[in-house]
Amino acid sequence: MTSDSNARKRRAAEAALAYVRAGTIVGVGTGSTVNFFIDALARGTVRVSGAVSSSNASTARLRAAGIEVLDLNEVGSLEVYVDGADEATRARHLIKGGGAALTREKIVAAASKQFVCIIDDAKLVTTLGRFPLPVEVIPMARRYVSSRLEALGGRPVWRQGVVTDNGNEILDVHGLSITDPVGLEREINQIVGVVTVGLFAARGADVLVIGTDKGVDTL
Ligand code: 5RP
Repeated sequence: MTSDSNARKRRAAEAALAYVRAGTIVGVGTGSTVNFFIDALARGTVRVSGAVSSSNASTARLRAAGIEVLDLNEVGSLEVYVDGADEATRARHLIKGGGAALTREKIVAAASKQFVCIIDDAKLVTTLGRFPLPVEVIPMARRYVSSRLEALGGRPVWRQGVVTDNGNEILDVHGLSITDPVGLEREINQIVGVVTVGLFAARGADVLVIGTDKGVDTL
């Protein structure tokens, strides 16, 4: 990753602060873009009363920044969830899960009134699928789910050595050109053994904040 792409990620992450109200509990995603958002929160210009985290990695970074991390079950619902993505369209459909945190990310997104997605402009695409689609699977179902994903025209590759925070495995599905993200999300979710597909289309982002060389664009 170039320092330019880091600068664009940082711009998007810092712009997302405008969506967070002081004194509220914010939902926090996972990844290098979100790390810039956590760093911005840590500077305290917007003082939140706590965060709900989507991964062990973000929990550790939030706690190191002195931000209390709460259980979603205690909090119930959130005003705002801020998270990155691996690919996004102008319709705000997303591919997520490059960091293997897709299941908790989808849960926190679902429990939030507003999902603010922060990306750098290299991730904006016309059609999702150039980035291999992550699918979290129950370990014993990996081979079965792979065969079903092949029947859908994809080429699933086991992300060996990666165990999710939920104790599961990831298949990265190559070779898909996703022209119907809502339909494919529904279809893959129906496969027995799939925990979560990294398509965020039925509930995509509400706001897409795109870091560019010049500043930020918002969709
Ligand atoms: C983690 C994710 C991340 O949001 C996605 O991988 C983007 O990461 P980064 O900000 O490091 O490019 O979905 O599961």
